[in-house]
Amino acid sequence: VNGTVNIAVIGATGYTGQELLKILARHPTATVTAVMTARPNHTPPPPALPVDAPVDPLDLDRLDDVDGVFLCTPHGAAAPLVQAAMQKGIKIVDLSADFRLQDQAAYQQTYGQEHPAPELLAQAVYGLTEHYRAEIRSAQLVANPGCYPTCILLGLKPLLDHNLVAPDATIVADCKSGVSGAGKQPGDRNVYGAVAQNFLAYGVGSHRHGPEIRQQAGTDRIVFVPHLLPMFRGMLATIYVSLAAGSTADDARSCLREVYANADFVRVYDRGQPEVNRVQHTNYADLAVADAGVEGQVVLTAAIDNLGKGAAGQAMQNMNLMLGLDEEAGLS
Ligand SMILES: NC(=O)c1ccc[n+]([C@@H]2O[C@H](COP(=O)([O-])OP(=O)(O)OC[C@H]3O[C@@H](n4cnc5c(N)ncnc54)[C@H](OP(=O)(O)O)[C@@H]3O)[C@@H](O)[C@H]2O)c1
Repeated sequence: VNGTVNIAVIGATGYTGQELLKILARHPTATVTAVMTARPNHTPPPPALPVDAPVDPLDLDRLDDVDGVFLCTPHGAAAPLVQAAMQKGIKIVDLSADFRLQDQAAYQQTYGQEHPAPELLAQAVYGLTEHYRAEIRSAQLVANPGCYPTCILLGLKPLLDHNLVAPDATIVADCKSGVSGAGKQPGDRNVYGAVAQNFLAYGVGSHRHGPEIRQQAGTDRIVFVPHLLPMFRGMLATIYVSLAAGSTADDARSCLREVYANADFVRVYDRGQPEVNRVQHTNYADLAVADAGVEGQVVLTAAIDNLGKGAAGQAMQNMNLMLGLDEEAGLS
């Protein structure tokens, strides 16, 4: 694509929509031509993060002259918008979970409702950018990954793909996130009084990202436990991995280095540990592998900003690829 591209953001009043508007404001070749809520006849309340752009009620006709649209709505609300945008032939990055699980039955089980557009499932490409670049480039519909799955899979998937993990061992992904991961809707669990000076596990054994992580990792043997931290943005995954016989922490680190040699947004540490404040407000994913001090065990750590690489940043990366732009545009 030469010249500028026209972009729409739907669900622009939420955390991820606002983050995308900030990224798009820095983008050298994208012009934002429609900033809308996901509901017709709905005059939205002022956004939670003060980005200086008026938000209009949903009007699907405004998609007629755009090249790409970001859908930043809850699951269920996204699928009908995807159907409409598919018919207009434009590129779509859906930040919701509607097209992340390949299987209709798994969606129903996980999200407690029938899949709203099963006919489109086969066309959706999972947008873990560094692993599916070729497919993303030619996709019309990208299902942007969840924040926890992004954080966990960037570190774990290369080790699984390269047979560095003991085949029958259970992998434990112990994860912590800031409160913005749950969106702007106030609830008992994310009000200040419940979060400040507190720390807890939630969704143990039942979090909706579990099936997504296991589907993409290609193994059911992953125990995923999310925790809520008293901070706004950022997350850290500590992943306990038994290595395949004969493999070492150095092998695992070399594997990550090789896989991400040309990935500008994934930084593999030689020493030290990722920290949330090094990735906040960026599209970076920071990874480290350390010997656990126990024969055959390593500890893999990964830090991302849930609103950055875990949502809006990765969404921008994907849209850039889909529109033939520089992958880093707007993000560096
Ligand atoms: N937050 C994260 O870290 C994160 C990371 C990865 C993926 N995601 C996914 O990205 C999507 C957006 O997340 P978010 O954190 O930006 O959520 P959010 O802050 O709660 O914002 C949700 C947006 O969707 C709109 N909306 C809410 N309910 C709706 C409904 N029933 N019908 C139509 N529109 C509705 C809201 O509009 P109003 O302002 O008019 O209510 C708002 O624009 C979700 O699917 C989420 O799972 C979030």
